[in-house]
Amino acid sequence: MKFFVDTADVAEIRELADAGLLDGVTTNPSLIKKANRPMRDIVAEICDVVEGPVSAEVTALETAEMIREGKILAGIADNVCIKLPLTLDGLKACKELTGEGFLVNVTLCFSAVQALMAAKAGATFISPFIGRLDDINLDGMELIADIRRIYDNYGFDTEILAASIRTINHVREAALIGADVATVPPSTLKALVKHPLTDKGLDQFLADWKATGQSIA
Ligand code: G3P
Repeated sequence: MKFFVDTADVAEIRELADAGLLDGVTTNPSLIKKANRPMRDIVAEICDVVEGPVSAEVTALETAEMIREGKILAGIADNVCIKLPLTLDGLKACKELTGEGFLVNVTLCFSAVQALMAAKAGATFISPFIGRLDDINLDGMELIADIRRIYDNYGFDTEILAASIRTINHVREAALIGADVATVPPSTLKALVKHPLTDKGLDQFLADWKATGQSIA
């Protein structure tokens, strides 16, 4: 499973990239707003830090304008992945842009048939939003499982990028189902390595080691 981080905070991205934990990055207009800096600068800096795909989202609603904006974003760096909304115009733009060799992440996916249509439009990644479905008492993970099954049924290459991940358990379940990628907020990504018994066990080992009076050096 690949790990992308879901943030536009370049300092956080740098820290995670230095730890060797990142396969890519996803941003969206809300995350750009939170970072409160020009989008072009943010995307350029992230692309310098991370070699994998960096999703940058268009804001146009009509196909021709989406394509124009997408190409501007892709011009920032070779690893920009153009993020398009899951609308008919978005899928038309997806077909055109992937046909020209651009990477495309189709976002705001909330149903299995939407994901099927995105795959037919040649999407590089489909982003089903787990947390936002859970928020309205639907089952985000069931959507990931349905998409996995449909893509496997027909041999689609589109990668399932599990998004709107809120918990460690979301990551675990998405991995068990076979999502190709999880995009995870920085705090959740860091929490994935934590376990209270690891901390407790380490404290005990260190205390016992100290009691031996030995030194490895
Ligand atoms: O980047 C899209 C997605 O991960 C957003 O997550 O928590 O705002 O639903 P959230």
